[in-house]
Amino acid sequence: MSRRLARPLAVLSLAVLAGCQGPQSVFDPAGMEAERVLGLFWVMLAGAVAIWLVVMGISVYATKAHPEAHSEKSGLRLILWGGVAFPVVVLTALLVFGLQMMPAFRAPADGPRIAVSGERFWWRVHYDTPDQPGVAKALSMVGTPSANEVWLPVGRRSEILLGSPDVIHSFWVPNIAGKTDTIPGRINRLVVEPTREGIYNGICAEFCGTAHAQMGFRVRVVSEADYAAKVAAEAAPAAVLDHPGREAFERNGCGACHQVRGTPSAGLVGPDLTHLAARQTLGAGILPVTPDNIARFVALTEHEKPGVQMPAFAMLPEAEIAAMAQWLGALK
Ligand code: CUA
Repeated sequence: MSRRLARPLAVLSLAVLAGCQGPQSVFDPAGMEAERVLGLFWVMLAGAVAIWLVVMGISVYATKAHPEAHSEKSGLRLILWGGVAFPVVVLTALLVFGLQMMPAFRAPADGPRIAVSGERFWWRVHYDTPDQPGVAKALSMVGTPSANEVWLPVGRRSEILLGSPDVIHSFWVPNIAGKTDTIPGRINRLVVEPTREGIYNGICAEFCGTAHAQMGFRVRVVSEADYAAKVAAEAAPAAVLDHPGREAFERNGCGACHQVRGTPSAGLVGPDLTHLAARQTLGAGILPVTPDNIARFVALTEHEKPGVQMPAFAMLPEAEIAAMAQWLGALK
């Protein structure tokens, strides 16, 4: 290769490889399921490349090296071996290789059970969800409520129950496991075993409506002790109760859709806001949680997140919005 080409190519391949690392990449697994899926991918890719090379070789042989007519017998032999025997052997081997992975995916969870419901367009999360009859119907109502962030203990097999009240979404954390749909009327079960602590990005991987591309979430893999502390903290009532922002929140009817535990606001339409400021993002992965961003989201909701079901409240006095944003921004 000429030296003129070598440098740009090296830079390009570094850039491409760098894209394989990070908090939202199947090539940087941090979960047992993602590791296995990646292994399967490499095996299939290697097989596909090998077969492609053989087919190309045969094409070149037949058109360039020996372009003269071949006998009917050799043609038949090629079809029999290359078109029947070879695919049967290769596809059977791949099937067996894929199937023998499945028992590990189906291993029972010994860790927490977390319910996640795909909403338009955010994620309803409940910790400590009991596995009882009726959970399927009331997925969104059992356990400790939270939203748009899923904490998981490292090294434990946790079960995530997935549902949806209206449209199909797909729950996908590329570093942790393969994607699983959330389907109205049924509960899908995803068992995950995170292997590395860290913060990972999750996305909705099924087109579900206008704000589909703005339906993200965070997965935070932490030690078992930190996980237990987090669930206990989520179960606690709001940290700040005496605040002018709380009065503004209640006066303007925000509690009809949002719940802030420890106050009369008990709406279940939108995300639970009891510990909003303990989350990394606002609006399902679209903005960092700061008072300024909260005020912006309240006033310019549709502008910040087209397709969102919450109406914008730009008609409220700025001071009221600022007070609410200060209060919500303090709810750790
Ligand atoms: Cu939810 Cu796409």
